[in-house]
Amino acid sequence: MSLNGKELEMNTMDVLLLMGDADSTREDCRRELEKGGYRAGVAGDGRKGLALIAKERPRVAVIDLDIPGMKGMEALKEIAGIDPAIVPIVLTGSGSVDSAVESMKNGASDYITRPFDPHALLESVRRAAALSESRKQSAGQAPAADRQTMALKGLELLGQYYSLGLDKRDFLGELTRLENEAKRHAETVGNIGEKEKLLRDMLEQLNLVDEIIAKYDYDKSTVLQIMLEVQTRLNWLPGHVLRWISRRLKVSLSHLYTIANFYEALSLEPVGTYKIEVCTGTACHVRGANGLNTSVSALLGLEPGQTDADMTFTLTNVHCLGCCALAPVMKINDQYYSNPSTRDLEKIFESLRREKKNDIAVENA
Ligand code: FES
Repeated sequence: MSLNGKELEMNTMDVLLLMGDADSTREDCRRELEKGGYRAGVAGDGRKGLALIAKERPRVAVIDLDIPGMKGMEALKEIAGIDPAIVPIVLTGSGSVDSAVESMKNGASDYITRPFDPHALLESVRRAAALSESRKQSAGQAPAADRQTMALKGLELLGQYYSLGLDKRDFLGELTRLENEAKRHAETVGNIGEKEKLLRDMLEQLNLVDEIIAKYDYDKSTVLQIMLEVQTRLNWLPGHVLRWISRRLKVSLSHLYTIANFYEALSLEPVGTYKIEVCTGTACHVRGANGLNTSVSALLGLEPGQTDADMTFTLTNVHCLGCCALAPVMKINDQYYSNPSTRDLEKIFESLRREKKNDIAVENA
């Protein structure tokens, strides 16, 4: 629980080592840090470690992902909530690219694998302590998001990339690839020109996909469930999302396209929240389907096969909805409408727009 009672005695510490009591590396790390001029404290349990961090506010926390008492990844997330100026470093005996990426996403400034190299640890702690200082200084007087500020953020990201053993070309190559995918996505959804929004949307989508993949433990045998869940959340499977799943799970892209083409529940085209099917079959045709089709098209500003810009409505024509007695008929998701007037259509669309807005508000609450 304590090493020489250190965490109980200290009022301040530079570095907290959050590693199991039985972990022999912990003492080696502490010794090296103290030789390097850092005041180091220790904790052998996740919860106690977080309590100590909240009390002592060290500049750096070195965390073993296999810490007793809680998941190391959870501890990483909680540290940012305690004090964003505390910079975590992960030290692990079971390193993998996925856990390195997840650690970085959860705020780790570095990812060191065992057996630890004392010089690498000291260098990493030195960088993290400097970063912590600069965060403290800029807290409360955050500079405007100007070119220099963004360049600093870029440098920080580049440093994280280097720590994964990747180089600048990988970093820029990946960014360029993602931006190109965003442009292709913009062309697909007919939304060219709003670059910033497009990248933000794409980032949100890829984060969501990551959450879903993590829920299924990165298990490639669950790829169909993952795709179905993404489909439910996004209403379709954009190309950049399939490429992301392919890279994350190391499954070939062609395999994902085969699955997407095979299952009717999966769509490679953008589909709005509400899929409107206007029947143009014979029975509906003779009873006024053309008029219904024209009214729906005019009210939504859509041609059959199109989806509106905010992904609310998709308009399609079908040959028979199997309820010819109701002709002319249209279907929205699972609901059938028989011969609706233009006024009825206005009310229906308005109420669906309201419903979607409320759903989004509830989701964001
Ligand atoms: S033709 Fe329209 S429902 Fe059958």
